[in-house]
Amino acid sequence: MINKIINDKSMKEIITHLKENGFIFQGSEIYSGLANSWDYGPLGVALKNNIKKSWWVFFVEKNPYNVGLDSSIIMKSKVWEASGHLSNFSDPLIDCKKCKSRFRVDNLINHYFPSINCDNWSNEKLETYINQNHIKCIKCNNEDWTKVRQFQLMFETYQGVLKEDKNKIYLRPETAQGIFINFNNVRNSCNKKVPFGIGQIGKSFRNEITPGNFIFRTREFEQMELEFFFIPKDKNDNTWFNYWVDQCKEFLSLVGLLNSKNIKFKNHEQNQLAHYALATTDIEYNFPFGMSELCGIANRGNYDLTKHSENSGVNFEIQYPNVTVKRMVIPSVIEPSIGVERLLLALVCEAFTKEVLKDDKERLVLKLNKSICPYQVAVMSLNKTKLGKEAYEIFEMLNKTQLRVIYEASSSVGKSYRYQDGIGTMYCVTIDYDTKTKGTVTIRDRDTTNQVIVKVDQLKEYLYDKLDIIC
Ligand code: GAP
Repeated sequence: MINKIINDKSMKEIITHLKENGFIFQGSEIYSGLANSWDYGPLGVALKNNIKKSWWVFFVEKNPYNVGLDSSIIMKSKVWEASGHLSNFSDPLIDCKKCKSRFRVDNLINHYFPSINCDNWSNEKLETYINQNHIKCIKCNNEDWTKVRQFQLMFETYQGVLKEDKNKIYLRPETAQGIFINFNNVRNSCNKKVPFGIGQIGKSFRNEITPGNFIFRTREFEQMELEFFFIPKDKNDNTWFNYWVDQCKEFLSLVGLLNSKNIKFKNHEQNQLAHYALATTDIEYNFPFGMSELCGIANRGNYDLTKHSENSGVNFEIQYPNVTVKRMVIPSVIEPSIGVERLLLALVCEAFTKEVLKDDKERLVLKLNKSICPYQVAVMSLNKTKLGKEAYEIFEMLNKTQLRVIYEASSSVGKSYRYQDGIGTMYCVTIDYDTKTKGTVTIRDRDTTNQVIVKVDQLKEYLYDKLDIIC
């Protein structure tokens, strides 16, 4: 029984918990670690895969309009020239001449003036602001700055043996462009007619100047993106934009986040929009380090298809409408985009719960939603020597079903409960002496800690019912 919930949770204890329980390890750890790189352990990869699976089922498999794609990470430089990333995908940087510290200029200004929004300011405007306000180095307190320069965020590499400019390529900073350049391929091969969408999950890379906050902002991450193509009735037609905002809400509720008081919706001001966007709504989450972007829903207009058409010479126009008066148009795009790791972090922060039980003992429980928790059921026994065989047989029986099941070999049921609580397992099934004589097991609910006795031959149905699994 639960007595009270302890509300404070810090990033430090969440990170420690995730490491100790096999979710996330420091990247290159045995060589003293590579800053801001993270490896996902057995539990982490299970959670990540469940999140991706939930997104794919919701946005691709079950949505009547959409299909999927898996495009290359490495694409021709011309893709990035056309999309505007080569000229626009950069952040302004400044260096302290005294201590050589480097800062993203917006971060430096916001350190002293948090309410100033300097998105889209020119380098000259940023320099003038720094000089006029006598902004000092955060590290050494001097006021001796280099000029502001733009720093390209795309990772460069070379294809083939020669490191020549003509062989220069970039790792993709978003999965979206792979979708745009395949618009005709998908449309023609799958006989799709607008409105329709193409969803993709895959790695993206950004040479972020200020990565950090654990897995929140990293240089290598995965995105789940949908590009939805449609023809707006007029320039104020927000029907599909609103539809995808609603779908994102539904998805967040499916993975257990929407009802959270930590979720907030924010519309971008015109001067905050990315170079391709007409409108953007962000869904923000109140992480322990503050309210920050979790997901973005952007109206990209027909910017991308138009640019790729101009640069490649390929025609992306479609006939619209299909009956009566016909005209050729390039479709517009609504893009819901979310980072896998960022969503994972929000879900873990939300789920991380410290409780005091009736016996005054503390327990740490990850209250992950049943759709994404690494394991839904753990099977264990009161006595490994005397009941281990029966427990393993029940594990094997459940493991053949749709349930995600783990066999818990430890003989201490108390310790097993604590461990399973900590990795988010919804139900613990304990085999005891009654299993042999009466054919029953005890099922403990993770969130309430309540226990019920269930017949072994009704076990699967009981768990399916609790976990909303349809046969
Ligand atoms: N295609 C649009 C696009 O890439 P974005 O706002 O730059 O838009 C979309 O990124 C989402 O990808 C973000 O809302 C965030 O969830 C995730 N994301 C972006 N940069 C990231 C980074 N450096 N580390 C982790 N996740 C990131």
